[in-house]
Amino acid sequence: MTDRAYRRSIKLHSFEDFAGMRAAGQLAAATLDMITAHVRAGITTAELDRLCHEFVRDHGGTPASLGYRGYAHATCISINHVVCHGIPGERRLMEGDILNIDLAVIVDGWHGDSSRMYAVGKIGRRAERLIDVAYEAMMRGIGAIRPGATVGDIGFAMQAYVEAERFNVVRDFCGHGLGRVYHDAPDVPNYGRPGDGPELRPGMFLTVEPMVNAGRPDVKILNDGWTAVTRDRSLSAQFEHSVGVTETGCEIFTLSPANLTKPPYPPAG
Ligand code: MF3
Ligand code: CO
Repeated sequence: MTDRAYRRSIKLHSFEDFAGMRAAGQLAAATLDMITAHVRAGITTAELDRLCHEFVRDHGGTPASLGYRGYAHATCISINHVVCHGIPGERRLMEGDILNIDLAVIVDGWHGDSSRMYAVGKIGRRAERLIDVAYEAMMRGIGAIRPGATVGDIGFAMQAYVEAERFNVVRDFCGHGLGRVYHDAPDVPNYGRPGDGPELRPGMFLTVEPMVNAGRPDVKILNDGWTAVTRDRSLSAQFEHSVGVTETGCEIFTLSPANLTKPPYPPAG
């Protein structure tokens, strides 16, 4: 094995490491729960970001994206045709918007990475269906995870389902290994063929984070160097969980403590 291949090899973690990932994953998920009640028409994405940042800090974590490759925010907030890496700012949410809030936290050195879709007021039927399909794609990808399956099996489960629903998966961004490192080997593409790619083994930690476009799969990056949008300006949706491969399947580290999955979320209280 070359030096480079060795550094990129997929880490196998211990039982104790699962406890670290559970703590980090649960803080990411609790933050995404907390922000739900704030997602309303009129709030800016910078305000949502600040609320997430303060919650993470007040609960013993650090946002992993702060300072990552020069990124200066705790979250990425991607509205409507923004596919991912939307930068929080002065944009105010409007009735009918759909948005993804993506948050990664570090707790005791472990990374918990998760994102969910949110809806502002009443949204369109197509937006609703896109969100449902993105959520189901993530859950089907996670459902393919067990020892002996491959990374390609995950991508295949997501792509086959999404295309049967007449939407498209994004090729330009992938899920990833994580653990003590934010973005580690392997890449976890949102597409694939059964049996392709590295074999999954107990102790691997991965994210599953399908991006689903209502139109063509193509994206472009805006001049800010971050914001990825659909080239055809169609709507895009994404969900993300962090998981660990177990002897029998996988454990989802970022399940919502409040049992929130996808919109519509029940009123808080
Ligand atoms: N959280 C994203 C992911 O799911 C990556 C965001 S890039 C960052 O992997 F710079 F904002 F951190
Ligand atoms: Co991720």
